[in-house]
Formats: sequence, C-alpha cells, structure tokens
Amino acid sequence: MGHPVLRARARPLDRGEIRTPAIQKLIDDMIETMEEYHGVGLAAPQVHESVRIFIAGFEEDADGDGETTIVPVPFINPEIASLGSEKVADWEGCLSIPDIRGQVPRHRRIRVRALDRDARPVDLQLEDFSARVVQHENDHLDGVLFFDRMTSFESLTFMEEFSKYWRD
Ligand code: NI
Repeated sequence: MGHPVLRARARPLDRGEIRTPAIQKLIDDMIETMEEYHGVGLAAPQVHESVRIFIAGFEEDADGDGETTIVPVPFINPEIASLGSEKVADWEGCLSIPDIRGQVPRHRRIRVRALDRDARPVDLQLEDFSARVVQHENDHLDGVLFFDRMTSFESLTFMEEFSKYWRD
C-alpha cells in the first residue's frame, strides 16, 4: 500500500496480447505468488503490472471426499454485475495491506464475464465467498482497496487481535 500503481486504473488487454509469452508468464508468476503467500486472490497491480488481470482462488472438492483445495482461476478484462440487491458484510484481508483485516459489505451474488488465459470468454455466476473474492480483486483493477468499501472502520483489526477477539 502506498505504491501509486495500486491506485491506478489498469489497462485492458487485447486477445493477441493475452496469448503472448510475457502475459502467460505474468499469469504463472501471479499464481505462484498467490500460493506462496497463501492468498485466495491476487490482482496484477499488486505485482506492479497495471493490466486487467486477476487470479481468484476457488475452493473445490474435486473427488467429493470433503477435502477442498484452492484452484487458481485467471480472469482477464473482467466485467462484474450484481445479481439482486443483497449485500453481506464479512472479513477481508489483502496481500497489499499485510496483517490487517476488516469487515467489508459486498454483493452476495454476482455475474462475471471475462476472458480466460487462452483469451476465450467465460461467464460465471458466483455467490458468497467466491463472489467476495472476485469483487475484491476486481476493485484492484480500478485502484480501489478494501478500506474504500468499508462503511465503518470499527472492525479494522490486526491479525493478532483478530485471532484473539474476533475469530468465532
Ligand atoms: Ni487485495
């Protein structure tokens, strides 16, 4: 936080550019960084690249045994629309704002249209935690940080205090 790139509006990519080795490598590096820091999402401006790409980590139970893994899904040039007017407040953190959490109201259900890493269109409906992650990451592409979306700073807390006082 404090680097101007985090407050800039990132530029869209055309389909040809998405397939270039430079962008493919950026996507691979972002996935690696997200996993290294145990994040559930990462946007390109967070690694100082001002382009409209983010990775969202979606929880999946591939073999149905109740054990989930985080699957990293790249979104390029995303467009987000809310489905319904319902908003819910829940905890968020951000790799660019280390060690701090706060409660942020977000739309409960959204539709997201974007391109995947092969420049093919994707169109998804998401709700709850996945919808929250996508709204948080999409904000990064417009220079918006989760603080900006908080309606009160009363819940703002350091991780240590979060563990002590706020975790159920
Ligand atoms: Ni973030």
